[in-house]
Amino acid sequence: MARINEHYAKLPASYLFPEIGRRVRAYSAAHPDARVIRLGIGDVTEPLAPAIVDAMHAAVDEMGRRETFHGYGPEQGYDFLVEAIREHDYKARGVDIAADEIFVSDGSKCDSGNVQEIFALAARIAVTDPVYPVYVDSNVMAGRTGAAGVDGRYPGLTYLVGTEANGFQPEPPIASPLGRADPGSPPPAATDQRPAPPPSLEPVDVVYLCSPNNPTGTVATRAQLERWVAWARANDAIILFDAAYESYISDPALPRSIYEIDGARSCALELRSFSKRAGFTGVRCAFMVVPKDVTGVGAEGKRVALNALWARRHTTKFNGASYVVQQGAAAAYSAAGLAQTNAQIAFYMENARLLREGLGPLGFTIFGGVHAPYLWLRTRDNLTSWQFFDALLDRAQVVGTPGSGFGPAGEGYFRLSAFNSRANIEEAIARIRNAFG
Ligand SMILES: Cc1ncc(COP(=O)(O)O)c(C=O)c1O
Repeated sequence: MARINEHYAKLPASYLFPEIGRRVRAYSAAHPDARVIRLGIGDVTEPLAPAIVDAMHAAVDEMGRRETFHGYGPEQGYDFLVEAIREHDYKARGVDIAADEIFVSDGSKCDSGNVQEIFALAARIAVTDPVYPVYVDSNVMAGRTGAAGVDGRYPGLTYLVGTEANGFQPEPPIASPLGRADPGSPPPAATDQRPAPPPSLEPVDVVYLCSPNNPTGTVATRAQLERWVAWARANDAIILFDAAYESYISDPALPRSIYEIDGARSCALELRSFSKRAGFTGVRCAFMVVPKDVTGVGAEGKRVALNALWARRHTTKFNGASYVVQQGAAAAYSAAGLAQTNAQIAFYMENARLLREGLGPLGFTIFGGVHAPYLWLRTRDNLTSWQFFDALLDRAQVVGTPGSGFGPAGEGYFRLSAFNSRANIEEAIARIRNAFG
């Protein structure tokens, strides 16, 4: 008899996207002539850049010739890609990352779900609320939590609440040595008048941070990241920094990497993905940086480098991203690749600007959409997230994502994605203006 991992039973049947699908299907069945515009899913819509396509074609041709065929590659990634990452993502921003601190993978979803397994089950994990659900669910599956409460939260996890008052960028759990004043951060665009939640007092070992953030589209300032790094160092904690959307940051003063903050090399791991920066959602390539200075505590208090643990995990459970895919990813760093992918990002961000400027005058309070491809709207007329979903679908035939699907603090908010054609974005704005203007 094979006993199953019963922690899986704690996960609610996947609700958010299936429920969105169910409601859209029901609407379309009742209104067969309606053309529904989907601004709900965080998937890119532009095709691969020509420089990437050419590099992948050439790599396929290599694979078809005996002399240039590649079998298993290095588990951590081919040198040509690792060196491109070191040079363009880090050295160019004054950060020195060694080749053996970079682990190429087939996606940040896997990395962000898998990384928890190098920590003890007893490690206290903190996540933000609202949050990218993978961080939560992977810890539930591992057995770090009890069953979800009525509010959907899991006992055993620490939740750091994002609100309008803190610009959806919660403070570290315990007031950091640098204090809480943050003259560097812009004030939130608007406030719902409620004060920011006080920092959690729970001692935390590991925290997941995501900036630019999915779902809120907000971005952490340098001062905020400095406070997180100071907190982690003072409390012997580790930051898992998900920078999947870093290429959408347009203000050069904002850090794109946690390692731009002094001291982060000893307390932070960073996750990056080619999905949103180079249209790789269907191609699959990402990487995680694990500096050798980051340590955890092993038996009898011995310090153990996380780099060695992750290297062991990666080489045991992963056999490398495909050669063809890694050649495509490396081409994203060529002069042509950079120009073409930057143009795609600019295209999506122009969509985001149009959405912000089109919907703002209708009385929506809007966050994000400046350094991220997501807009986070406060619903109008005090509608709940799902009530607003239904209203938008019914009155404008536009689909978004209810904020409550990302955690209880997302209730009353709504995520719109800028990943779409210009024609669809313009049509969606016009319809929403008609329906809600
Ligand atoms: C915050 C965040 N991290 C990671 C991912 C997953 O990226 P990948 O396509 O590399 O698995 C996503 C995808 O939407 C995301 O929003």
